[in-house]
Amino acid sequence: MTNSPILSVQGVSRRFGSLVAVNKVSFDVREGTLMSLIGPNGAGKSTIFNLVTNYLSLTEGRVLFRGQRIDTLATQKIAHLGVARAFQIARPFRGLTVHDNVKVGALFGRTGPREVESVIDDALRLTGLVHLAQAQASSLSIGHLRKLELARAVAARPTLLLADEPLAGLVPTESDEILASFRALVARGTTVLLVEHDMVSVMKISDRVVVLDAGELIADGTPQDVVQDPRVISAYLGQEALER
Ligand SMILES: Nc1ncnc2c1ncn2[C@@H]1O[C@H](COP(=O)(O)OP(=O)(O)OP(=O)(O)O)[C@@H](O)[C@H]1O
Ligand SMILES: [Mg+2]
Repeated sequence: MTNSPILSVQGVSRRFGSLVAVNKVSFDVREGTLMSLIGPNGAGKSTIFNLVTNYLSLTEGRVLFRGQRIDTLATQKIAHLGVARAFQIARPFRGLTVHDNVKVGALFGRTGPREVESVIDDALRLTGLVHLAQAQASSLSIGHLRKLELARAVAARPTLLLADEPLAGLVPTESDEILASFRALVARGTTVLLVEHDMVSVMKISDRVVVLDAGELIADGTPQDVVQDPRVISAYLGQEALER
């Protein structure tokens, strides 16, 4: 593990018509750490993931992965460099088995043909899906679908894993299992950037937290620091007021 940023987001903006979904956001992700990106609904978190993977093009700014500019590269090329993404809405091939869905992840990642089966096996073990390897994806519960989404991303053997709300809709035991998978990934050297709403989990697992509100970065620090930050508190209280 080194201390250099594996990912550097520099002055990145994205507009959708007149809406500025992400406004001049800058942050670094240190290699070998788990960093969380949090913020109220519509803050721009998923858009940041879309910009980092060039799923959407940015309006201004740049993104560096290991010092190399990637915002000009195709999404597939970024994946080959070692950036994988677990989506907010899991999109498995429903007609395929769990094993074969994970295989798709392996084939689209950095895995050589002879390693494919061992990489699938590792991803299934890490996510606790070994017993479901031959189940059809269409038969899975939400918890197992989320684990499958994570397994598919892990099978690409990323050095940087972007995970968008991997705990949404899960019961506490399932959340704990997925959090344990993230810890195991970080322990073996994978860097993780997590978008998550569950603050208890974020506080437990994150080395650092970046907070977005309405497209702007409003805090960047340790979990303990950001939860005490008045701007963060008011962004979240504002959201609660809207939801009441
Ligand atoms: N493809 C798009 N076209 C138009 N507007 C978009 C598009 N994607 C996102 N937006 C808008 O950009 C803003 C940020 O959206 P984004 O999905 O990044 O938020 P988020 O922080 O991930 O929210 P959530 O917590 O609800 O997932 C929102 O106002 C959203 O409606
Ligand atoms: Mg989102």
